[in-house]
Amino acid sequence: MPRLEGRPVLVIGATRGIGLAVAQELARRGARLGLTGRDPERVRAVATELRAWGKAVDVRRREDLVEAVAGFARDVGLYGLVYNAGTSPAFTRAERLSLEVWDEVLAVNLTGAFVAAQAFAQRLVGEGSVVLVGSVLGFRGGGRLAAYTASKAGLWGLTRALALDWAERGIRVNLVAPGWTETEMTQGLREHPHLGPALLREIPLGRMARPEEVARMVAFLLEPENAYLTGGFYAVDGGVGAR
Ligand SMILES: NC(=O)c1ccc[n+]([C@@H]2O[C@H](COP(=O)([O-])OP(=O)(O)OC[C@H]3O[C@@H](n4cnc5c(N)ncnc54)[C@H](OP(=O)(O)O)[C@@H]3O)[C@@H](O)[C@H]2O)c1
Repeated sequence: MPRLEGRPVLVIGATRGIGLAVAQELARRGARLGLTGRDPERVRAVATELRAWGKAVDVRRREDLVEAVAGFARDVGLYGLVYNAGTSPAFTRAERLSLEVWDEVLAVNLTGAFVAAQAFAQRLVGEGSVVLVGSVLGFRGGGRLAAYTASKAGLWGLTRALALDWAERGIRVNLVAPGWTETEMTQGLREHPHLGPALLREIPLGRMARPEEVARMVAFLLEPENAYLTGGFYAVDGGVGAR
């Protein structure tokens, strides 16, 4: 029997890349799925394909994000939350990083995760599981990626704080930290004639992750059977973090 059978799980940022792979994996495992993305057409298309509840949300609009969690709770129920939305619009040295970009990256990657998780915990009755999608750069540091690195390191702190606050309520909180993964976010790098091959040499397993490989870890952490896992981070990085 699929191990998430009948469990309502909402994925924030699920219409492409890792988030889409997570939604597909959760649907396969029998979850009652909810998903968000920014583009209403894409949300409709993916929700229809996966027979999911869907809502278009820009996570920088906090009231909309809270309303998405509340709407899913009302319409479907609540057991799991995956916060996958993330952005990395600038690859630039810290002294040239604008505060506008800093604010945007922190809003999407970190504040959105807190807003969604808080709205989830405020409405959840009974046990639950939250998975935040961080990055291996949140532990290692990424050159020319000050805002992104800070936001992902912040998610690791947030994971532990929420796990402690909510353990007695039976809400588990874990962080999945992907390494380089084959999505639109890394397309430019992969296609770059020098940076692409140089990057692959840095990965002990010699290739980027496929989105499905990250998705399987997210699904594993959500499963009620894995009830003793909370406050942890789980790298899916081809060995990069071992360096
Ligand atoms: N690819 C990698 O190498 C890698 C490595 C480590 C960690 N990660 C993390 O994995 C997660 C997924 O990344 P990905 O590689 O799948 O990237 P992606 O293809 O660029 O997808 C980014 C996701 O974030 C959502 N998003 C961005 N800004 C948003 C906003 N303002 N409001 C709502 N949603 C927003 C996007 O939604 P829309 O579709 O609506 O734009 C999309 O679902 C991110 O948190 C990323 O930081 C990726």
